[in-house]
Amino acid sequence: MSHPSFFIKTFGCQMNSRDSEIMAQTLSEKGYVESMDMETSDLVILNTCSIRAKAEQKVMSLLGMLRNVRKRRPSMRICVAGCVAEQEGARLMERMPHVDLVLGTQNIYQLTTLLDNLDQAGRIATGLSPDYEIPAYIPVIPTFSDEQDRPFRKFLTIMQGCNNFCSYCVVPHTRGREISRKVKDIVAEAQALVDAGIKEITLLGQNVNSFGQTNSVTEDGSPYPFSLLLREISQLNGLKRLRFTTSNPKDLSDDLMRCFSEIDILCHHFHLPVQSGSNAVLKQMNRKYTRELYLDRVAGLRSYCSDISLSTDMIVGFPGETDEDFEQTMDLLETVRFHGSFSFKYSDRPGTRSSAFDNKVEEDLKTRRLQRFQKRQDEISLEHNQSFIDQTVEIMIEKISDEGLAGRTGSNHIVHVNDSNLPPCHPGDLLQVKIDHGGPHSLRGKLPAE
Ligand code: 5AD
Ligand code: SF4
Repeated sequence: MSHPSFFIKTFGCQMNSRDSEIMAQTLSEKGYVESMDMETSDLVILNTCSIRAKAEQKVMSLLGMLRNVRKRRPSMRICVAGCVAEQEGARLMERMPHVDLVLGTQNIYQLTTLLDNLDQAGRIATGLSPDYEIPAYIPVIPTFSDEQDRPFRKFLTIMQGCNNFCSYCVVPHTRGREISRKVKDIVAEAQALVDAGIKEITLLGQNVNSFGQTNSVTEDGSPYPFSLLLREISQLNGLKRLRFTTSNPKDLSDDLMRCFSEIDILCHHFHLPVQSGSNAVLKQMNRKYTRELYLDRVAGLRSYCSDISLSTDMIVGFPGETDEDFEQTMDLLETVRFHGSFSFKYSDRPGTRSSAFDNKVEEDLKTRRLQRFQKRQDEISLEHNQSFIDQTVEIMIEKISDEGLAGRTGSNHIVHVNDSNLPPCHPGDLLQVKIDHGGPHSLRGKLPAE
């Protein structure tokens, strides 16, 4: 009997990447094989994102296209997973009659059971449950197409959901209440990854800083902060790099900052989303910190780790954002001088509090503000990148080709190395490189002279 094939298209964040990998593994265990061609696959899974309207539109247009494919191949099964599935649920079933399975964000572990049930049920939609617990057994897979170019590094989900309810954000609605995994399960998964040859682990959660604060993560119920988890995982023999994302500044503890001066393998990069430089806007966003507190955390991080590279997320054109508010955002950028940032125009999301605010900023003005922010960020990033010139940095090799190789510094900078005298090396190896060029998005270098 031939094996059914599956194709997964992943949109959005790292959380979704990891979820896709878990779905791929559970399917492989049931005899499915991965296909690179969506149109000829027996099962197509769209693992979706709804963080901004644009992300959701992409999903909808792909689903529209699949309607025709399904007409030609009625045996094809179509599954929508991820945040759009959670948010749209039953509505999606109505609008898209060619979708067989709407898989909520907490239901990925039941994927194969639900697929089996489709024969009887016809179509199925699942959703969030208040009693959800993250299953103990999380499979590990060596390769999946999404990951093929980096078989030496993996994401490890340590918690799901979010309790913060920032007024613009759909995540608490699509991923449910915050829940942390048990420490022993996390450590077992990290150990399994290291045993499988993984060199770099990124711990994932919407707000890792509040790990273990909403449910017990130890056998005896004793408190176990995120900083302790970092210290424990950093002890694993063979692990070369440790990262985490993402953090809310309001919960960033002093002990977590101290980890950067005490844990050797913790990469010197911190992604600390600020979202706005204006206290008035931060308040409307329900971020629960001020610009002053944010700057204080940045100073703290830099005092423990002077070369830490900082990146952030920024939203421009939040409802009610005045010219002065936006100047505060520009001023924060000048003050912190982020190494890089992800910046977005505010986008109304269904079910969020800010979508009902009546003082929306015009699209044109949002565009102009975004362009101004991004232009200045690009200049600052370039200046940072040029300051690496003549420094010797350690990279983890990601890709090797005939022309040379590319890798990444602990600070999360991509480095291209064109050198005819490269030693024998593999992806995942660490290599010392002397930087001779800093461009807008990456660095270039050579092997240091002996
Ligand atoms: N509009 C624009 N950007 C948003 N983000 C989250 N929700 C919205 C929204 N409604 C951004 C935030 C967050 C990042 C993942 O996406 O900056 O940190
Ligand atoms: Fe969304 Fe705020 Fe939670 Fe981040 S902390 S996922 S922005 S609600």
